[in-house]
Amino acid sequence: MEKLIYASLKSIGAYIPSKIVTNDDLSKIVDTSDEWITKRTGIKERRFAEKNEATSDLATKAAKLAIARANLKPSDIDAIIVATISPDYFCMPSTACVVAHNLGIIGKPAFDISAACSGFIYLIYLAKSLIESRAHKNILVIGAEKLSSITDMQDRSTCILFGDGAGAVVIGTTDDKNLSILDVNCASNGQYQDFLMTPGCGSRNPTNDKVLQERLQFIKMKGNEIFKLAVKTLTQDVVEILEKNALSKDSIDFFIPHQANLRIISAVGEALGFPKEKIALTVQKYGNTSAASIPMAINELYEEGRIKQGSKLLLDAFGGGLTWGSAILAFNGQ
Ligand code: COA
Repeated sequence: MEKLIYASLKSIGAYIPSKIVTNDDLSKIVDTSDEWITKRTGIKERRFAEKNEATSDLATKAAKLAIARANLKPSDIDAIIVATISPDYFCMPSTACVVAHNLGIIGKPAFDISAACSGFIYLIYLAKSLIESRAHKNILVIGAEKLSSITDMQDRSTCILFGDGAGAVVIGTTDDKNLSILDVNCASNGQYQDFLMTPGCGSRNPTNDKVLQERLQFIKMKGNEIFKLAVKTLTQDVVEILEKNALSKDSIDFFIPHQANLRIISAVGEALGFPKEKIALTVQKYGNTSAASIPMAINELYEEGRIKQGSKLLLDAFGGGLTWGSAILAFNGQ
């Protein structure tokens, strides 16, 4: 009988743009204040990419680090997949194709997926299947966003929330189940599609003067409604995946939720009973970076020396679509 192989997280890398935008900077553009933003969101600052930097540029930098930390060369990568809602180009080519080109990878599958803030977990779900079905051996998985390019800087209810950045991982193989991606759960409910959306410039509302005048190319959000659903769904998601795998929360070394709002993270963390030191927290520095937020948070823990080979991570995300997902996995890098 053929030996079982498991998908495994081999490395992590991130790229964080250097330009810091503080709450005080935003209060010069829209009617808001550091006090309001801090109290409602916990965000103190976020990073914006430079004007001439696209999502693929951030993604490429994160990817180079992840490939090097996996002790691989770009030519060892069998597939490149990118989760983003702020691709370089509206329809084509995909950001993944641009990243593959930047890395000198030719002749391998490269494509993007769209699952908003749950995008990174959707990619883990996909990469696990591709590895365990033996289609590929080393998959480059990237969550990358230049949300500043799709954020309405005249809308104080959204422009305070989002930031730019990228995180990347290499998913490879292991024969040790304890070092594998144990389980991934992904779900959606399109009934709430209008809670978080960019209403314009797609086939529903093609680009025209009216669409642009109404600024429908930018993110629109029903903040209050999202908030309530996010807390409930993120909590339930974790309860379900732990139960399904007969694991207790004490077996988890780090709970790494999508970084949207400190109040959401605290409410979910408290409901689940995770101690503060086990909960990843970067939203105060980077804001909400959608598909990039979870790999950026993993990278931060890694660079602080807190994640080691064998550390058990519980990922949990929620976003536009609506989409949500969770994953339990061991870190299997050096
Ligand atoms: N500065 C000052 N006042 C602001 C403001 C800002 N940046 N944004 C909104 N307000 C005002 C509103 O105009 C409103 O004023 P009004 O009462 O006079 O009408 C008031 O603050 C309350 O607005 P509301 O939208 O009810 O605030 P809130 O407590 O729900 O907080 C969010 C707003 C966006 C911070 C919060 O809803 C949230 O974080 N939602 C989840 C968003 C999210 O995580 N999205 C991504 C999911 S992946």
